[in-house]
Amino acid sequence: MGKFITLEGIEGVGKTSNLRYIKELLEKSGHDCVLTREPGGTNLGEALRGLLLSHADENMSADSELLMMFAARAEHLAKVILPALANRQTVLCDRFTEATYAYQGGGRLLDVDKISELEDWVQGELRPDLTIILDAPVEIGRARAGNRSAPDRIEKEHDDFFQRVRSAYIELAEHYPHRICLVDASVGLAEVQKGIYEKLIDYGIVDPDVIAGN
Ligand code: TMP
Repeated sequence: MGKFITLEGIEGVGKTSNLRYIKELLEKSGHDCVLTREPGGTNLGEALRGLLLSHADENMSADSELLMMFAARAEHLAKVILPALANRQTVLCDRFTEATYAYQGGGRLLDVDKISELEDWVQGELRPDLTIILDAPVEIGRARAGNRSAPDRIEKEHDDFFQRVRSAYIELAEHYPHRICLVDASVGLAEVQKGIYEKLIDYGIVDPDVIAGN
């Protein structure tokens, strides 16, 4: 089986530029890398993403939101993630179930047991080999995200919501240190990348000698 790596964080922490950086490092280190995202990654998943993030139903119930995230995930696992891992490819995914714990559990205050039941049902024993959470205070994320396009349905939530999301992410890293880590994203891009590089080495995903060409 290939490696399964996921990147997480609240809005504005720099996921997009750091995903590119991680993909480059993985490829330099010899990984055959599949880059994908959640919600999304398949035709059905992208259609569900459109429904989840659009403003067509501002009052979507939290349970509907949770179930749609897992419906997209079931499709993504069946069509993209599991076949790639079986093919010994490395899957680099922009968000996964840790986002559900953070946003639907932390943000929407849904019962974590419901999430964990769905996780077991949809994923069986599969968990990412490494989840990197880019962590920064909500104000910093907001200020950076504010420079971009109009906010989607979830980005429109209040600061309290994102404080709870951030706290839930931090708790996940504390509970599962063997597979989830935080990288300080409040600093400049070069320093964030250094933090990511070190984690990829610490968790045995990339080999510094191979990257250095030794
Ligand atoms: P992004 O990938 O562009 O950050 O947008 C995805 C949005 O969906 C983001 O606001 C986080 C949210 N989300 C959840 O609420 N739960 C989930 O399980 C996932 C994967 C994403």
